[in-house]
Amino acid sequence: MLIALLPGDGIGPEVIVEARRVLDAVCGDALAYEEAPVGAAGYRAEGHPLPPATLALAKRADAVLFGAVGDPSCDGLERHLRPEQAILGLRKELALFANLRPAKLFPELADASALRPEVAKAIDLMIVRETNGDVYFGEKGIRTTPAGRRQGYDIMSYDEDEVARIARVGFETAKARRGKLCSVDKANVLETSQLWRDVVIEIAADYPEIELSHMYVDNAAMQLVRDPGQFDVIVTGNLFGDILSDQASMCAGSIGMLPSATLDVNQKGLYEPIHGSAPDIAGQGKANPLATILSAAMMLRYSLGKDAAADRIEAAVAAALAAGHRTADLGGTTTTRDMADAVLAAL
Ligand code: NAD
Ligand code: IPM
Ligand code: MN
Repeated sequence: MLIALLPGDGIGPEVIVEARRVLDAVCGDALAYEEAPVGAAGYRAEGHPLPPATLALAKRADAVLFGAVGDPSCDGLERHLRPEQAILGLRKELALFANLRPAKLFPELADASALRPEVAKAIDLMIVRETNGDVYFGEKGIRTTPAGRRQGYDIMSYDEDEVARIARVGFETAKARRGKLCSVDKANVLETSQLWRDVVIEIAADYPEIELSHMYVDNAAMQLVRDPGQFDVIVTGNLFGDILSDQASMCAGSIGMLPSATLDVNQKGLYEPIHGSAPDIAGQGKANPLATILSAAMMLRYSLGKDAAADRIEAAVAAALAAGHRTADLGGTTTTRDMADAVLAAL
């Protein structure tokens, strides 16, 4: 099986190299790898954040393991040349619409959560985030008003098929977990969200065994820190899911801990930590590699059918944490390499 390795920018290469070492330890020669540049690295090498050869590799591979993209030196580029277009382009070109972002507290990290330990320890949820639509992919630009003033605009929209497709992933995910689905929207203000809610309710007819609730996104942000244990599966749109998943990461200890899978209709997927390129700590050996290592585990489970190998990696991460290893984001001084070594030692 072929894995496309796309390290990207900033801490991306630092965490990808560690995930690769862990995969080698668990899978050996069963996986083959091809690496290609994306993001600012793609722009520098080939003049485009998602070079055609990188996209072709991602399409050809059985799965994609992605680091992170983003480089402040690219902020002045035209939007289509900015590093972030690489991840948006991959999600769109590969029809990766279902972004699964699990947030679960490793018990050893109760003291690292931004929440009180007794509140934090209950968090065990899955955010199902749509990643092919919403305000991310609508018409956008900066135009001039009749009064000669600059005006920025980004059109938000979802059609009913897009909502139905992600809603089904939400219901199926809840079915395989604790049977509770919370759909998060802003139906009190946005027409896009009203349609979202209507369609989720229609799809619910096929899932009578699932306990469905609806929540406005502002309340959801509040409830996530008040009592994260109330959530099992959250299904939401692209923008709300982006924001809520960063928030959920701090409830579970750190943004450096949360993995993700982004799947198409056939479970082909791209796997990446939810964090970005962290330019503020890049090159210093401070990045927490666990989100990427746990993303590699999700890849084994969801796209490659290697559940036992995924279990082994997750158990080794728990063991490394239990042994007291903490990168800076978790309040310790363990380096990126030493954290991965601790996982390897546990394996
Ligand atoms: P970020 O996630 O890169 O960093 C936010 C904060 O969290 C920083 O202080 C960083 O040091 C810390 N952090 C992130 N990952 C960490 C890890 N593994 N270990 C320890 N600390 C970690 O978000 P940002 O600063 O808003 O964005 C930086 C760049 O990354 C931007 O260009 C942004 O567009 C991009 N970005 C890319 C992705 C992606 O590739 N999927 C995701 C988010 C942001
Ligand atoms: C993420 C990131 C991306 C997003 C950016 C870099 C385009 O924040 O993967 O969470 O907004 O989806
Ligand atoms: Mn994000």
